[in-house]
Amino acid sequence: MNKILIVDDEKNQRELLSYILQKESYNTLTSATAEEALKILQNEEIDVLITDLKLPKMDGIQLLKEATQISPETSVVIITGHGSIDSAVYAIKHGAFDYITKPLKKEQVVLVTRKAIERTNLLKERKFLVSRISSKEAFEGMIGEHPSFKNVIKLILKIAPLDATVLITGESGTGKEMVARAIHNISPRKNNPFIPVNCAALPENLIESELFGYLPGAFTGAMGRKKGIFEAASGGTIFLDEISEVPLQTQVKLLRFLQNKEIYPLGSTNPIHVDVRIISASNVDLEGRIKDGKFRADLFYRLNIFSIKLPALRERSSDIPILANYFLDKYKHLAHVDNKFFTSGAIKLLLDYNWPGNIRELESVVQKAVILSDNEVIDEHVISSIIQTTFIPPPNVDDREIKITKERKSLDEIERDLIIDAMNKTGWNMSKASKILGITYRTLQYRLGKYGIKKPNDIP
Ligand SMILES: Nc1ncnc2c1ncn2[C@@H]1O[C@H](COP(=O)(O)OP(=O)(O)OP(=O)(O)O)[C@@H](O)[C@H]1O
Ligand SMILES: [Mg+2]
Repeated sequence: MNKILIVDDEKNQRELLSYILQKESYNTLTSATAEEALKILQNEEIDVLITDLKLPKMDGIQLLKEATQISPETSVVIITGHGSIDSAVYAIKHGAFDYITKPLKKEQVVLVTRKAIERTNLLKERKFLVSRISSKEAFEGMIGEHPSFKNVIKLILKIAPLDATVLITGESGTGKEMVARAIHNISPRKNNPFIPVNCAALPENLIESELFGYLPGAFTGAMGRKKGIFEAASGGTIFLDEISEVPLQTQVKLLRFLQNKEIYPLGSTNPIHVDVRIISASNVDLEGRIKDGKFRADLFYRLNIFSIKLPALRERSSDIPILANYFLDKYKHLAHVDNKFFTSGAIKLLLDYNWPGNIRELESVVQKAVILSDNEVIDEHVISSIIQTTFIPPPNVDDREIKITKERKSLDEIERDLIIDAMNKTGWNMSKASKILGITYRTLQYRLGKYGIKKPNDIP
């Protein structure tokens, strides 16, 4: 039922209006002051606001201006004294929809209210359509039916319109950047820049000048004034990926920004006010980093006003066939046949695998399968030949000090490095090395051959 708010300091007028409109089956609320009316507008969806121009403290024009800010869809109707057409014109110039004159006449009240409701309904419908279109676009390419994934979508819709920071956590390849983009794209900042920054990829000595910019002479080689990412992202969103890798001294500066929205370009003592929203992401446990003294607790709390934890693909395995078919559709043009499909054996293998690289890994497996399978079917043999080469290090690999370097390598390169490392650590003892690697002696033998790894001359 449409809701109408009537604001008039004269009780009789309020009651008369309310009576007329209730008879027309509208739901009415009344208020004697503009201040109280604004509170109601903040908490309830009001279709039409009918207000007298003369009110005790804040007047009707001021109420009109503030009401249209709080609720642009609400149509405002002004009540003016007989003969004061000038004030009606003034009110309409300031956003009122229409006016009614005193003494109140039932027909006029009903007619004007009906037109005001029509306008509000149109505006509401348009707002709904716009929000549906923009969120549909924002979620394009984000696939999934599993309840844990649907919860993520719900959270995005809830968080996006607010300006608070968001921390996205989840294993590598679970879609953290995709989620950050979706939040930006349905937020009021969507027409301003979205700038992703991979904090792990920026060398420590460059991260601050990249983020905050510098003045000429700030350091050797700083020629002109350079704007940093914070200024470039003005009005938009910065996505700080791998936030755990930000050096401690830069963490202080990020904290300062989150506290008072100010940054200091290098070499400057004058703060610059910048308006950006921070979304950050991490695939390591930040609370663990705090315990180790590598991450500031106060920064963590500021970044984590809202948090979204993305499920690993193995935790939403009912989505595996859906995603696999989605990627098949995306890449089937790479094959030289008209159609492609998975056999049930292939789907079973995909379901059984534990996907350490999550959706990114699934996408790459499907892409390879499209290319490797030479007829219309992708069967379990094709899938197993791809998955077998995707080496999964044993879980406690860190304990054995086998290091995976930070820069992105292909899975083959990573596997090769791990094998060489294990061989060196065990003095080229193949049975010990195969145990460390969690593979059989024969597999190790095969892989040494495959990668052409040879025993160095100095090892007996
Ligand atoms: N729900 C989804 N539906 C379809 N594709 C997805 C979905 N989520 C992620 N992807 C795809 O998976 C890949 C990895 O996503 P993204 O880069 O957002 O992950 P990430 O968590 O940031 O990974 P990393 O930790 O490695 O940086 C991208 O190609 C992305 O398009
Ligand atoms: Mg990422």
